[in-house]
Amino acid sequence: MPIPANDFPRMWRDVEAEAVAVFREVGAGGWYILGPSVRAFEQALAQAWGLPHACGVASGLDALEIGLRALGCGPGSRVLTTPVSAFATTLAIVRLGAEPVFADIDEYGLIDLAACREAFARDPDLRWFVPVHLYGHALDPALLRALHKESGCVMVEDCAQSIGTPSGLTGEAAATSFYPTKNLGALGDGGALLTRSEAVASAARALRDYGQTAKYRHAHVGWNSRLDELHAALLHRVFLPRLAGWTARRREIAAQYLAGIRNPAIRAPGAPPGAVSCWHLFPVLVEDRAAFLRRLRAEEITGGEHYPVAIPDQPVMQTVRWHAAGSLERARAWCRAEVSLPIHPYLTDLEINRVIEACNRYAPGH
Ligand SMILES: Cc1ncc(COP(=O)(O)O)c(C=O)c1O
Repeated sequence: MPIPANDFPRMWRDVEAEAVAVFREVGAGGWYILGPSVRAFEQALAQAWGLPHACGVASGLDALEIGLRALGCGPGSRVLTTPVSAFATTLAIVRLGAEPVFADIDEYGLIDLAACREAFARDPDLRWFVPVHLYGHALDPALLRALHKESGCVMVEDCAQSIGTPSGLTGEAAATSFYPTKNLGALGDGGALLTRSEAVASAARALRDYGQTAKYRHAHVGWNSRLDELHAALLHRVFLPRLAGWTARRREIAAQYLAGIRNPAIRAPGAPPGAVSCWHLFPVLVEDRAAFLRRLRAEEITGGEHYPVAIPDQPVMQTVRWHAAGSLERARAWCRAEVSLPIHPYLTDLEINRVIEACNRYAPGH
């Protein structure tokens, strides 16, 4: 049996009865956009996250973009961020007319907070920061807090991959995604902005809805970026209650991989020491990625690449202004070598062992 990167049909079998009941209820209720289900989900999400406000939007990209904009980021703002992430992190910055400033990554694939510190110290006009809690590994909160305080930057944390960890609590706002592959994935697109600030929350609520501050009163150039009632109800009543169990299973799988993969040709960096991770992905590094992916495919295992090209090397980046805060060599080397092993919560122990055995059998050059 093939082992896919994510097994949505298996998830559907688990949730179907509850999801269909929610679908019937929302359908019969007759309120489909920005109604009671969105409000109830926002409350539950904010409470689970430990922040007072959550604002549901149409995607993680929009959550980042709306969060930055609500805080005043715009044309000409320079935003320190990572060259290794989903492209959406940088796209949010670029779409606002702002300019990404890339700092290199550390040995776990996360933005290097020491490099960020230097960048802020070198350039007092650098005011914006979008750190990414990549792979589900929460960046060190004490270091983030110190950096935030010292630099006086405005920080929007990209928590698209880190829901279920203590991330997103340091900056002015945090953005997350409900893209189906995410740890809290919907049956389509969705996202949310979380914040301590009433002002940021109400600006985001206006921005997601054509910039309206009251019905037919448009104060801002906004978006149509509304989380719909159906998805809010599914997320709230079917998926959110499962998140803790799913996260626990991901952690078990990561522990089994870390203990079981014993092949000098495969380096599993794991999470930084002391970091809390929800193991959105399980990255390993190999010298010959194409050969390793072929080996996995031969054993009917789908490997992923997160991410094969460093963001500043993407073709579109030739058309926009961006800056590098130092060398980006680690990022580029990471992007050449990274492969993600399957780590969804519906993997069975037998499948985990098959992945471990396939890794341990891998012989580069054969
Ligand atoms: C780190 C990161 N940031 C932002 C996003 C954007 O989220 P979405 O796909 O919901 O727009 C994603 C997901 O693709 C992501 O992984």
